[in-house]
Amino acid sequence: MSAALPALPLSWVAAARERWRSLRDRLLANPQFQHQAARFPLTRPIARREANALFDLCAGFVYAQILAACVELDLFETLANGPQNIAALACAHQLDLDAMLCLLRGADSLRLLQLEGETIRLGPLGAALRGNPGAVAMIKHHKILYRDLADPIALLRGEKSGDLAQFWPYDDAQAGQAHIYSQLMADSQPMVTAEILTAYPFRDHRIVLDIGGGDGSFLTALARHERHLALRLFDLPPVAALAEQRFAANGLADRAQAFGGDMHQGAFPVGADLITLVRVLHDHNDSEAQTLLTNARAALASGGTILIAEPMAGAPGAAAMGDAYFGFYLRAMGRGRPRRAGEIATMLTKAGFAPPKQIATSQPLLASILVARADSRP
Ligand SMILES: C[S@@+](CC[C@H](N)C(=O)[O-])C[C@H]1O[C@@H](n2cnc3c(N)ncnc32)[C@H](O)[C@@H]1O
Repeated sequence: MSAALPALPLSWVAAARERWRSLRDRLLANPQFQHQAARFPLTRPIARREANALFDLCAGFVYAQILAACVELDLFETLANGPQNIAALACAHQLDLDAMLCLLRGADSLRLLQLEGETIRLGPLGAALRGNPGAVAMIKHHKILYRDLADPIALLRGEKSGDLAQFWPYDDAQAGQAHIYSQLMADSQPMVTAEILTAYPFRDHRIVLDIGGGDGSFLTALARHERHLALRLFDLPPVAALAEQRFAANGLADRAQAFGGDMHQGAFPVGADLITLVRVLHDHNDSEAQTLLTNARAALASGGTILIAEPMAGAPGAAAMGDAYFGFYLRAMGRGRPRRAGEIATMLTKAGFAPPKQIATSQPLLASILVARADSRP
């Protein structure tokens, strides 16, 4: 049963706007109005678009599972070399023909695959996914999130200790689990790295410290991109050990150093003129995130720079990615939240940075970027 809430006190402008909105909402909820709007030529396209959007919301979890099944059966890779006979594919995956057709028709309707008579080939979205192994890794990983989302109210009430929280055991990261989550981060890192390296010029910096730098994937790519830079990474000890191995394997032992420690306890190594936080800040609750920025400021000389790259809430064209996807992902994880660029800007200035500049990225759903100078007055 829904609880009756007291009416909010409103100014007359807000009250007029509210009256118009409630009239609109009553109309939209009226089946007769919906019926007429779907038939009247001028409103038909809008009615169809809105009905489709609503249906996509109702059915989205099924679409995601069709995608998961295609990934699980490795269909996009199988079809990369050309179309296949459907019966042969069904046989190869031990599915009866009807079941395989059910999956393939679904995938065809979602533009993942394309049915042509008795054969199946890649569709535009399936083909694009092949160029994006990080997205494939995330699709496989979503099995865990899906379990946590089965009861969204229990998740919101914090009644269930989530499977995703166990996947990210930052407070108690042992080598095994740190290796598993760092691999997932490394798989999805190239898409984010490409955004950062295209958007921000690193040439004027000398020493970069990447806090929460994972297994060093970002710094390794940065080292190739800017050969003059010295690189430092800070992460939990088992993760820093992975980064050290990656640096050595890539011939970077003389340019790159990994430091193990807890970012919430004590100070960061000093000497860098650029600190980067890539997909890190949103993992932490407000007070920890604020302390992290304050400690980052303390590690920079005046005039040093901080760069924050992560998917941000309210990013134009990617609002659902921030507030819906990351909002629920981080809640399932048990800490952190997606923040708006303006909120991060406020935290940065509180930590002793000048007001940041937002740098445009081509895919804000992967990352938005804020860059700020360490103020002369910490
Ligand atoms: C979401 S991952 C991002 C990794 C990497 N920056 C990337 O984009 O692929 C967050 C990283 O922060 C690290 N981290 C989390 N809590 C930490 C803490 N208290 N101290 C140090 N590192 C921490 C994790 O080990 C992990 O590598």
